Amino acid sequence: MSSYDVVILGGGPGGYNAAIRAGQLGLKVACVEGRDTLGGTCLNVGCMPSKALLHASELYEAAMGKEFAELGIEVRPSLNLAQMMKQKDDSVAGLTKGIEFLFRKNKVDWIKGWGHIDGPGQVTVTDSGGGQTRLQARDIVIATGSEPMPLPGVEIDNRRILDSTGALSLGEVPRHLVVIGAGVIGLELGSVWRRLGAEVTVVEYLDRICPGVDAEAGKTLQKALGKQGIAFRLGAKVTRATPSASGVQLSVEPAAGGNAELLEADYVLVAIGRRPYTSGLGLENVGLATDSRGLLANRQHRTEAPGVWVIGDVTSGPMLAHKAEDEAMACIEQIVGKAGEVNYALIPNVIYTRPELASVGKTEEQLKAEGRAYKAGKFPFTANSRAKINHETEGFAKVLADAQTDEILGVHLVGPSVSEMIGEYCVAMEFSASAEDIALTCHPHPTRSEALRQAAMNVEGMATQI
Ligand code: FAD
Ligand code: NAI
Repeated sequence: MSSYDVVILGGGPGGYNAAIRAGQLGLKVACVEGRDTLGGTCLNVGCMPSKALLHASELYEAAMGKEFAELGIEVRPSLNLAQMMKQKDDSVAGLTKGIEFLFRKNKVDWIKGWGHIDGPGQVTVTDSGGGQTRLQARDIVIATGSEPMPLPGVEIDNRRILDSTGALSLGEVPRHLVVIGAGVIGLELGSVWRRLGAEVTVVEYLDRICPGVDAEAGKTLQKALGKQGIAFRLGAKVTRATPSASGVQLSVEPAAGGNAELLEADYVLVAIGRRPYTSGLGLENVGLATDSRGLLANRQHRTEAPGVWVIGDVTSGPMLAHKAEDEAMACIEQIVGKAGEVNYALIPNVIYTRPELASVGKTEEQLKAEGRAYKAGKFPFTANSRAKINHETEGFAKVLADAQTDEILGVHLVGPSVSEMIGEYCVAMEFSASAEDIALTCHPHPTRSEALRQAAMNVEGMATQI
């Protein structure tokens, strides 16, 4: 039996960051991962492959449609889907190998196989050949992530009825892709396949897309995606899907009840959320149980069981890679007696469509519900010179600030490259900046980031570029 200071279950952004930090701090650490490669959902079948296809499909569409032609670039592109998938897979392989390198560099043992908690400080790992390794640990960190939420009546077979993993590696462009769920996965992967030539219909239970994002930002994004050709069926639910060799027949009903309608698709993507993954973990052996949603509760990353910690998608909070990463750092710092902390109020959220949607802090709806007096400053990208010369003028920057103190409470951006710009506000808000602080900060010209400053200036009606 091998003995460790810390054994981490799961090698995703939660687990691998925890393992690397533990190694840096001189702990004897093992990371148990059942997949063939490290990196978890994010690197293997999540963030990274989806962004690879979003990038490639965006360029394809720009070259294919009017965009290149209007810039005076005349090309006749054709789609090589196999190559597009290959470059995605190559990038993913490079990234997962990168984690292996970091493990070696920081003296982290990767124990290949599925981990099972046998009791306090006891883990058994079963590898793909059935071989077992027993580990002993002072602390165990559960970072087992999440899996796609199933939908009754719509059985995922990853042939015709896909989850996100299936939709990231289709061998052909669908003629008609029906996406169930207008959340992040539905909009990102729906965008990929629409750009590559599919007709895309998104069926959403609620009467809006992306519940939780600022309503005005969500509406703007929906309008932009609608203009690109994505059809939205809001307030509707799929109650049954029947696959055949060539397609799927779907039964769609109004969410509020009413007559069912039949919809034909050649592929269906089920993207109605994810659920925590704790299958076969042996939680009962340390007296732990999940709640009704399958989540493992934590208090500052500690579970109720002494010496057992939990981070990432398998516990409460947004299911995001950077949240898992932050928790990993804080959890390991606490294990060594330091003061690790995650500021859950300032976890940014990005939808990598075109335009992108990026936000941090409170939405207008949240502030209204709290009865908090706030001022809003908005600035459209139509008035931003860089966006204009690049012909990317959809969207806006919106800054919400406390009516009395001017402290920035929320920022909502819809527009070009806003994923790369929201970090400015994350830093500012971490330092409790006021809108005036941003308004008085020089930004380079011409950049899209000037729109972020102008929005802050407009909290006091001072924008100069509209
Ligand atoms: P995971 O990444 O799920 O890793 C958990 C790992 O644990 C898995 O590899 C699993 O095999 C392993 N495991 C489970 N049980 C055991 C066991 N018993 N023994 C050994 N190993 C085990 N987030 C973003 O922030 N940005 C994005 O752009 C983004 N895009 C996404 C796109 C898609 C299509 C999907 C599906 C998700 C996306 N996410 C994104 C979410 C992100 O992937 C997750 O929030 C993140 O991966 C969570 O990290 P984690 O370490 O908690 O879990
Ligand atoms: P989601 O929670 O973002 O969206 C699910 C959508 O499905 C919601 O709009 C919901 O109302 C709808 N829905 C639920 N049940 C339905 C039903 N029966 N019929 C029709 N609609 C229904 O979940 P999604 O898109 O599956 O993504 C899962 C998680 O993965 C995200 O919440 C996010 O945490 C993470 N993710 C993050 C990304 C990013 O940061 N860019 C990208 C992709 C995923």
